[in-house]
Amino acid sequence: MPAVNKLGREGYDGKGVRILRKEQDLPLAFDAPGLLEELIDFKKEIAVIAVRNVHGEITTYPAVEMVFHPEANLVEYLFSPAEISREVALEADLAARKITEELSLVGTLAVEMFVTKDDKVLVNEAAPRPHNSGHQTIEANCTSQYEQHLRAILDLPLGDTSSIQPSAMINLLGSEGHAGLARYEGLEKVLNIHGVHVHLYGKKLTRPFRKMGHVTILDPDVDSLKKKAKFVKDNLTVTT
Ligand SMILES: Nc1ncnc2c1ncn2[C@@H]1O[C@H](COP(=O)(O)OP(=O)(O)OP(=O)(O)O)[C@@H](O)[C@H]1O
Ligand SMILES: [Mg+2]
Repeated sequence: MPAVNKLGREGYDGKGVRILRKEQDLPLAFDAPGLLEELIDFKKEIAVIAVRNVHGEITTYPAVEMVFHPEANLVEYLFSPAEISREVALEADLAARKITEELSLVGTLAVEMFVTKDDKVLVNEAAPRPHNSGHQTIEANCTSQYEQHLRAILDLPLGDTSSIQPSAMINLLGSEGHAGLARYEGLEKVLNIHGVHVHLYGKKLTRPFRKMGHVTILDPDVDSLKKKAKFVKDNLTVTT
């Protein structure tokens, strides 16, 4: 210890991931077959989405930076592009391309990585599908991850993945202490802000930390973008 225990099956959205720091944490894990990993003391979490077509052509999206909710183990904020050096960005991009290529994957692969304090890039997990860390590509990139996925599997030319503007993405999670019919508070306030795009998933029932939607925010100025993201986070809530 410290270690991380991950369920072998049915883990998603941080469910099934247990951080074990001390002996008292041990009962939290090992009730089903899983994987035990070293706890990485990372500086940042980033992700690169790669899309490969049948001919082996690969495109990648600029690396994004994820900021996790400390309790729920879920992405709370995502920023695109990630604030990382050119070298780290290049290494992350190469890692995503290499994994996609070696899997001969056709379609989308989202590769989540840790950047350590000494700027090493470690791959944490890879998901073979359009991914949470690419939601912002709908508004913020020339071709969204969804369009790119379809282009890849339908054997069409791949599109331009460049970002149009710096963006932030916020997962809209069910508030703690609320379970039942979902009610959205603060929609008008956030929709009044320039560059804010709200996506609700139409789920009838909310429960604590359930993913109910996401919001993408675009702004050419990174400081203003962060302020808007904080405002959305504080003002748009899902309750009952
Ligand atoms: N070895 C590790 N060291 C440090 N933190 C870790 C480690 N493994 C996982 N974590 C933390 O837990 C989070 C969730 O883990 P992981 O991405 O492996 O699981 P997941 O359930 O598939 O999550 P999701 O579906 O939301 O991506 C990571 O993003 C990271 O913050
Ligand atoms: Mg993950």
